[in-house]
Amino acid sequence: MDWISFWDGAHAIYVSSRHKRLHYARIAADLARHVPHPDARVLDYGCGEALSAPALAAACGQLTLCDAAPGVREKLRERFSADRAISVASPDGVAALPDGSFDLIIANSLLQYLERPVLDGLLAQWRRLLAPGGRLLVADVIPPDVSAVRDAAALLAFAARDGFLGAALVGLARTALSPYRKLRAELGLSTYREADFLAVLSAAGFAGERMRPNVGHNQNRMAFIARPA
Ligand SMILES: C[S@@+](CC[C@H](N)C(=O)[O-])C[C@H]1O[C@@H](n2cnc3c(N)ncnc32)[C@H](O)[C@@H]1O
Repeated sequence: MDWISFWDGAHAIYVSSRHKRLHYARIAADLARHVPHPDARVLDYGCGEALSAPALAAACGQLTLCDAAPGVREKLRERFSADRAISVASPDGVAALPDGSFDLIIANSLLQYLERPVLDGLLAQWRRLLAPGGRLLVADVIPPDVSAVRDAAALLAFAARDGFLGAALVGLARTALSPYRKLRAELGLSTYREADFLAVLSAAGFAGERMRPNVGHNQNRMAFIARPA
């Protein structure tokens, strides 16, 4: 199994439907703050189920959702086919788009699942797809020293604040026994130190900077804003 098949299948990474709803609502609200103008064309790459995509779409002109997992795209199409501000694309579909198609490209909580050559290919593609003045927002990047235990603590704090602590405790126990844990041990996750990731961006032709706070609830992870240099 690889990470894309994991996300394509039935997984229990969100501890409850409330957690999933609050997770996506929080992310959409955080991302909307980075939309440069109301007509902006935005690409959310590795978007997952994007339950709150309409909130992000309301802040921009056109939102393109892209995920590599075919089952995830099918759910997105079912959910958002009536919303003309939202379109769903496969990675091949995005690769075929003309230069300068987007004003903002987002990759949130994606990089940990990408091997370095895949990341380098995507950075080159995103640079090409950004319109003049456009920006890349890469968030939820995991530094090497953040353990699964600190991720769990961040989740519990989020759950305690938003009323799903019981479900979070049960969910964490389930994750500890789940295919996610096995796959994480087998495939690992890609992690970056801040300086190393800035160097990756620079090698790909971006001028990047660390952005605080991170998108979402986990402030142990990092966000970066980058512009084509
Ligand atoms: C942790 S989820 C993040 C979803 C969403 N961005 C969020 O922040 O909640 C990672 C998503 O990335 C997708 N993914 C993994 N590898 C990918 C790739 N190479 N290209 C596009 N999507 C990918 C997975 O299918 C999964 O839906």
